[in-house]
Amino acid sequence: MDLQLKGKTALVLAASKGLGKACAGMLAREGANVVIGARNRDTLEATAAEIRAQAIDVQVLAIPLDVQKPEEAAAFMNTAAQQFGAIDILVNNAGGPPFGKFESFDEAAWQSAFDLNLLSFARMCRLVIPHMRPTGSGRIINIVSLSVKTYLANSVLSTSMRMGVVGMAKMLSNELAPDNITVNNVAPGLILTDRVKDSLPPTQPGGPGLEELLARRAKDIPLGRIGKPEELAALVTFLASPLAGYITGATIQVDGGAVKAPY
Ligand SMILES: NC(=O)c1ccc[n+]([C@@H]2O[C@H](COP(=O)([O-])OP(=O)(O)OC[C@H]3O[C@@H](n4cnc5c(N)ncnc54)[C@H](OP(=O)(O)O)[C@@H]3O)[C@@H](O)[C@H]2O)c1
Repeated sequence: MDLQLKGKTALVLAASKGLGKACAGMLAREGANVVIGARNRDTLEATAAEIRAQAIDVQVLAIPLDVQKPEEAAAFMNTAAQQFGAIDILVNNAGGPPFGKFESFDEAAWQSAFDLNLLSFARMCRLVIPHMRPTGSGRIINIVSLSVKTYLANSVLSTSMRMGVVGMAKMLSNELAPDNITVNNVAPGLILTDRVKDSLPPTQPGGPGLEELLARRAKDIPLGRIGKPEELAALVTFLASPLAGYITGATIQVDGGAVKAPY
């Protein structure tokens, strides 16, 4: 299937590792020029080089930024727009907030999660819309979490902020529909990235190894395994394509069947 992404320009945030990196790589392999951002310049440059090596006839631009910093977000958008003119696709993503129970988080932790996982998404939408409108179309895809569809223990910060993103996306999908700009959310279940590996208990001599620890985490997932970043990226890439032009305001999980609700 030709996803008709050749020559499009996609911005992918938090893209030096994990889910963002997989999305940027797949978009580039489908022919889109990609602009990737994350804080650590060296990791970001290494990822850009990796993506360039896999894709043909596309430009890959790496612009370091912290999505929590308004001036860095604005500079990211300006540089991308100067380089490519129009922007067709925004994949909104950020690092995750800490895991923990409600009573373990103070005012500062809530503020930080708000800045990272809700305000940064709103800011990026605000910045990109003027660069999408003139093209007569656009795709905004927010990476949220399975916790917007089902209870996920120890994820109160993540869940609270991402529910805000889901609400914002529904509003935006209606407000931007006359401009043919679609806005959707993709909700990962358990997908193997550094964030997931870092959340495992440390392996001990004589104790379960990494494979066993991962298998234990996957025991309640109907498909019986942890997902791969490319499996999330495949949905994001489709939603970014012209073929997904009639999908907007949706939140779609990629979770191996983990959500128990029947919708
Ligand atoms: N993997 C899963 O199973 C899963 C499930 C549900 C939700 N999620 C959510 O999906 C998002 C991505 O997760 P992941 O698993 O891909 O994590 P990851 O492998 O740890 O990658 C995180 C990426 O975000 C970048 N980043 C972190 N903070 C940033 C900031 N302030 N500004 C710009 N870039 C930043 C990191 O680069 P730098 O550190 O260099 O900035 C890195 O490129 C997170 O919000 C996570 O909570 C993941």
